[in-house]
Amino acid sequence: MTNVVVVGAQWGDEGKGKIVDWLSEQADVVVRFQGGHNAGHTLVIDGVTYKLALLPSGIVRKGKLSVIGNGVVVDPWHLVEEIAKLTGQGVAVTPDNLKIADNATLILPLHRQLDELRENASEGLKIGTTKRGIGPAYEDKVGRRAIRVVDLADIDALPGKVERLLAHHNALRRGLGIAEIDGRELIASLAEIAPKILPFVDTVWARLDAMRRDGRRILFEGAQGALLDIDHGTYPFVTSSNIVAAQAATGSGLGPSAIGYVLGIAKAYTTRVGGGPFPTELNDEIGELLGVRGREFGVNTGRKRRCGWFDAALVRQTVRTSGIHGLALTKLDILDGFETIRVCVGYDLDGRRIDHLPAGQAEQARVIPVYEEIEGWSESTAGARSWAELPAQAVKYVRRIEELVGAPVAVLSTSPERDDTILVHNPFEG
Ligand code: IMO
Ligand code: MG
Repeated sequence: MTNVVVVGAQWGDEGKGKIVDWLSEQADVVVRFQGGHNAGHTLVIDGVTYKLALLPSGIVRKGKLSVIGNGVVVDPWHLVEEIAKLTGQGVAVTPDNLKIADNATLILPLHRQLDELRENASEGLKIGTTKRGIGPAYEDKVGRRAIRVVDLADIDALPGKVERLLAHHNALRRGLGIAEIDGRELIASLAEIAPKILPFVDTVWARLDAMRRDGRRILFEGAQGALLDIDHGTYPFVTSSNIVAAQAATGSGLGPSAIGYVLGIAKAYTTRVGGGPFPTELNDEIGELLGVRGREFGVNTGRKRRCGWFDAALVRQTVRTSGIHGLALTKLDILDGFETIRVCVGYDLDGRRIDHLPAGQAEQARVIPVYEEIEGWSESTAGARSWAELPAQAVKYVRRIEELVGAPVAVLSTSPERDDTILVHNPFEG
């Protein structure tokens, strides 16, 4: 038995939450290793819907440990709210089932404000962020001036750290013509929130290492998708963290040998929320139909997602950059009833055929998808719980995707419900 990393193989919103929740039954601990509350993970359990942003999806299962790793950026005010919301739904969140890495970076109100300000500016690049302060918090982490979770335990030492942080931010704010931040107020608000966070704080890397040596099984829960990765995504239209599977090790404080099986989650079509290139995007009634049927609206921001055909060239790329062993294919039923379905198999760039998305922003905007047409099926696949229940053409579609992306489908999800899942290969078996 091995550990499993779940990673988004497209631009996020692939249905990772459901798959993580479903797999967590076999795990002892579920670990978030990057991103923050920009993630929106929906779990439907016995008809009850739980919406998570920062908490690992294992939190709703009794007896599982949930861990927020060092690679995550933590907004402590948001965390307190999310815990309260879940508690209100009858889910216990206590220091026994939630641990937060002491060396994780904090998101502060000034980060959220900066994120909003940049996004709302009339000039400059619009990334279409979630405006939750994710980017600015990671900037401060890499800039070596961030306030970290562990700093909440030593309020007396905060003034020096806050002074260093504000030397940067207040200079920026003066330039932007907005009010400077009062360090004493920031320290007071951190001191106020600290007692609500500190009971969960832990030396996470050591605990995970010990659990691993004890033979406990770890499920690493990725947020976003590999095409939003800061290195391997559609830069600059990306999020500010590494998302690819290797980050599961760095973002939780374990070595790469802890990773085990990499399960890539992909939708049977493609969606993207926010700006940036999207070669197979459909700005027509088919795109509309996918969006309506797939209920493609953001969990967090309510934004309408852009929709298009499955891009096998892109998923083939993420299979390689994340070392994906197998795929979990989700939302196949949204394609039910289409006469023909298109799949992108590569691109045309200035008259040249290429098999991957180039790194340059201008080239990414210029590629024209090369499609293959596949015959559709009229029967419903929704709720299917075995291959035998799937129409022959739907099976053909799945088989063609496997061939094109270079990875087998290990799991097929046929509805948001936990049990509407077809298991082909158990990821924990390696
Ligand atoms: P889950 O985990 C889809 C997108 C934003 C924006 C870009 C940068 O639900 O799959 P950020 O706020 O991170 O600086 O925004 O990344 N984005 C997501 N898109 N699903 C997500 O998470 C996302 N998290 C961020 O829309 O384009
Ligand atoms: Mg989302």
